[in-house]
Amino acid sequence: MKKVEISLYLTEVEDVSQLPAEEQELIRLARHMTTQAYAPYSGFYVGAAILLENGEIIKGSNQENAAYPSGLCAERVAAFAASASYPDIKMKAIAISGNAKSHNIDHPVTPCGACRQVLLEYEVKQDSPMKIFLSGHSGKIFLIEKAQDLLPLSFTSKDLENL
Ligand code: THU
Repeated sequence: MKKVEISLYLTEVEDVSQLPAEEQELIRLARHMTTQAYAPYSGFYVGAAILLENGEIIKGSNQENAAYPSGLCAERVAAFAASASYPDIKMKAIAISGNAKSHNIDHPVTPCGACRQVLLEYEVKQDSPMKIFLSGHSGKIFLIEKAQDLLPLSFTSKDLENL
């Protein structure tokens, strides 16, 4: 028997200005998309922006519903829209930002488990890493190099091969 440690590496970016212009713009769009959220029930506003390999940017925000489980997170709104319109184009990066109705969030928000699973699905499909930028309305940014890092011991299409 032995204990095994699984660690996560991320880059803390103190200020958005430290990043290349293309990534700054992606984060700016994700922050803007929090203002487009339809989240009257939670008051938690999430925005997402996905940079595709062809240069297109696909955006999303969380969409809630009076029948609560019918709503969808911002990341999945964006990822499903990207895959629906550009099924064969790789997703290079996603920026995710959160803000609240009651106050401005000044730290990075982190995606829920279901969204991590969905991002990983596309990363495995495209066989190349999808960078993930996490932020609040202001403050530092977390950069994670690939979706796989956010979901250790994941279940993917590889587990369904050769059955
Ligand atoms: N939400 C997201 O959009 N993304 C996440 O990763 C976490 C949660 C949304 C869902 C719901 O509309 C609200 O935030 C509160 O859970």
